[in-house]
Amino acid sequence: MRLRLVRALTWARGWQVSEPARVDQAFSIPVITVQVSEWATKKPQLLALVDWDDESCKKTDQFTDYYRHGDRPPYLNDFFDTLRHEVEIVAQIVRASLSVTSLWAQRYTRSQYMGPHNHGAVGYSAVLYAEYDPDAHTGTQFISPFNNFTNGQSMTYTPKVKEGDLIVFPSALLHSALPNESKKQRTIFSFNFLTE
Ligand SMILES: [Fe+2]
Repeated sequence: MRLRLVRALTWARGWQVSEPARVDQAFSIPVITVQVSEWATKKPQLLALVDWDDESCKKTDQFTDYYRHGDRPPYLNDFFDTLRHEVEIVAQIVRASLSVTSLWAQRYTRSQYMGPHNHGAVGYSAVLYAEYDPDAHTGTQFISPFNNFTNGQSMTYTPKVKEGDLIVFPSALLHSALPNESKKQRTIFSFNFLTE
């Protein structure tokens, strides 16, 4: 009996399941990636929106203007004018229009990072990788809301991204920016939005 159970579990992991058995996915967590069009043109336009020399934004662990402007930085309209096409693509995927609730920019120089956090139960969140070298940096690391079923270990997911990628994920999902081990700075924009 024990042997048969072990065999059944092995089959399930390999997804070799046939009638009369079936396996359903009880929950799933979407992570959308959209490649920003005409990135070479848009990159300098977007980076020019932020005052990167603002001393009040230079924190120990990263540059962030999250606390500088509140939810609506002065560059909000320019930012979304530039990303109009990509926002339309996301809206088509989630089958709703997007209502942006906040926008901010962050930059990580060597050893800087952002520890595990979530953006609250506020809908969806997005990260745009504005300065990013896949050979030197890592994408946002997501932490599963449930642990490995058999060993209890936490599980992570790090999407493969490149500069100019925009990722979208549930805002309540725990995530972090791992320490930047490179001399190259890593810069992102992030925003939250509701669907209407
Ligand atoms: Fe975040």
